Amino acid sequence: DTAPSFTSGTDASPAALHLTTRMRRNRKSEWARRLVRENVLTTDDLIWPLFAADGDNRREAVASMPGVERLSVDQCVRDAERAAKLDIPCIALFPYTDPALRDPQGSEALNADNLVCRTVRAVKKEFPDLGVLCDVALDPFTSHGHDGLLRDDGVIMNDETVAVLARQALVQAEAGCDVIAPSDMMDGRIGAIRDALDAAGFGDVQIMAYAAKYASAFYGPFRDAVGSAKALTGDKRTYQMDPANSDEALREVELDIAEGADMVMVKPGLPYLDILRRVKDTFAMPTFAYQVSGEYAMLMAAANNGWLDGERAMMESLLAFKRAGADGVLTYFAPRAAEKLRTRG
Ligand code: PBG
Repeated sequence: DTAPSFTSGTDASPAALHLTTRMRRNRKSEWARRLVRENVLTTDDLIWPLFAADGDNRREAVASMPGVERLSVDQCVRDAERAAKLDIPCIALFPYTDPALRDPQGSEALNADNLVCRTVRAVKKEFPDLGVLCDVALDPFTSHGHDGLLRDDGVIMNDETVAVLARQALVQAEAGCDVIAPSDMMDGRIGAIRDALDAAGFGDVQIMAYAAKYASAFYGPFRDAVGSAKALTGDKRTYQMDPANSDEALREVELDIAEGADMVMVKPGLPYLDILRRVKDTFAMPTFAYQVSGEYAMLMAAANNGWLDGERAMMESLLAFKRAGADGVLTYFAPRAAEKLRTRG
């Protein structure tokens, strides 16, 4: 392409406008664009979610998330190695619990030798300097697929659930987890978990609160990945937030900070950038976004159909989180984005 990338219009052409300010001047070449660039994405911004499963030397595709697999513990360690080599600071672990181990109480969540705990131990043993984050919620462990304890009449019981979540967090901290990330949206769980961790000598374990988490249709592929989709009876609207609300997100975040959250998260990602910006501006906290499974699935589906340039759409979407105020992003694109950033740098 030999066409000039920029023309000022200030030549002798009869059509020339007499403009003092021309915004295009700062865009005239790559060096000039780099010079005025306001936001950058680096590998420091990435948290990579992994799905753990039983077995040995096994990688099983998740149909609705092309490129994402359920990994046996040894393969989780291999992906942890990939994360470390790519300079990704932190991974997040989610278990696909054997359906035979699921019950109404989610008891397996409290088993110190459950899949997540075994994975944490295996990863931390080989890669002690890699951050490991664990989700706290009961949905991968309950036969009904809810994040909390379900009463006969269908109510998810708040305070009873919080007591279990605090124990789940302790079990994960004992396994060596660095960051506890409660995703359940029960009231008061951050404070209860902070107290439990501190009382047990885990004062250094951080809490990243899924503070503003919406009842979203974009979690569908994740529920396939952890096997809770078929199980789920009803929906999560009595605990996750109404997508119509914005002020309410600030109240949720405020409470989680008051209860001791070290970092806060907004979830989902792209459809909620307005919430992310408000949260960052209001609280100036370390603030994260979760580019969830459905967002990943949408981009991958379009890219795999040749409907958009997948690499460019991936990088643009991640940069958008930075621009909206995120300090980091949980994304299934983490390894591919890190590879792209490495070849560019
Ligand atoms: C569990 C949990 C969910 C996600 C993260 N933690 C699903 C849900 O709330 O139903 C979704 C992540 C994703 O869609 O990528 N509470």
